[in-house]
Amino acid sequence: MARTPLMAGNWKLNLNHVEATGLVQKLAWTLKDFRYDQTKSEAAVIVPFTDLRSVQTIIEGDKLPLFWGAQDVSVHASGAFTGEIAADMLAKLNCSYVVVGHSERREYHGETDALIGQKAKVVFDAGMTPIICCGEVLEIRKAGTHVEYVLGQIKECLAPLTAEQVAAAVIAYEPVWAIGTGEVATPQDAQEVCGAIRGYVAEAFGEATAEAVRIQYGGSVKANNVVEIMGQPDVDGALVGGASLNADEFAKIVMFYAAGA
Ligand code: PGA
Repeated sequence: MARTPLMAGNWKLNLNHVEATGLVQKLAWTLKDFRYDQTKSEAAVIVPFTDLRSVQTIIEGDKLPLFWGAQDVSVHASGAFTGEIAADMLAKLNCSYVVVGHSERREYHGETDALIGQKAKVVFDAGMTPIICCGEVLEIRKAGTHVEYVLGQIKECLAPLTAEQVAAAVIAYEPVWAIGTGEVATPQDAQEVCGAIRGYVAEAFGEATAEAVRIQYGGSVKANNVVEIMGQPDVDGALVGGASLNADEFAKIVMFYAAGA
């Protein structure tokens, strides 16, 4: 069964709820102008918590061809955890996706693979899909141990999940040295690690699970490099930071399949 590519825009700490509404509207108009075909790629916006309700309202109200999601979640369901947001709260806002373990959460908030695995589990338990991030820093890439390093991350992040959950999950391979730096991995670099991740999933969870799981590449994806990256057999989408804040640029990324058509 063919995997539908997922093009997800990770807004990070950008845009208040008023600005969010504007960007979602502009994105939807642009996609309509470009004759976007939702069967060829799925488009999602991964927005700050405070934007979620406004983004949900406009997408549902206007029946826009977009999914939405959050950038993080608590492992706790409720209680004395000041500042945390529970998976059920996100599910109630009809989020489809929740990013877990982004390298910025790992770096600035000390998130570990074990915690990220727990987060992926609570996202599934609440009826949503986690986008589970992994990726190596530059020193590891230079040492040439990036494949085993990333597989180590993935092994621990997927450990709490069933094969059925892994099949439905999204994994985002984002080399840290390529995030927000303009330094994009070559399509071959992306394929090497995405292919290795699929190989690990096949070994640990079975061939059918490996065929189903979607694996994204992330790190300085732009309209002018997305086509080549998406041309790789094990790359099923992109997690896009900076370029997702511009409606025209992100629409072109979402519509990578139409390039040259
Ligand atoms: P970037 O960010 O596209 O700005 O490099 C990607 C990400 O961090 O998800």
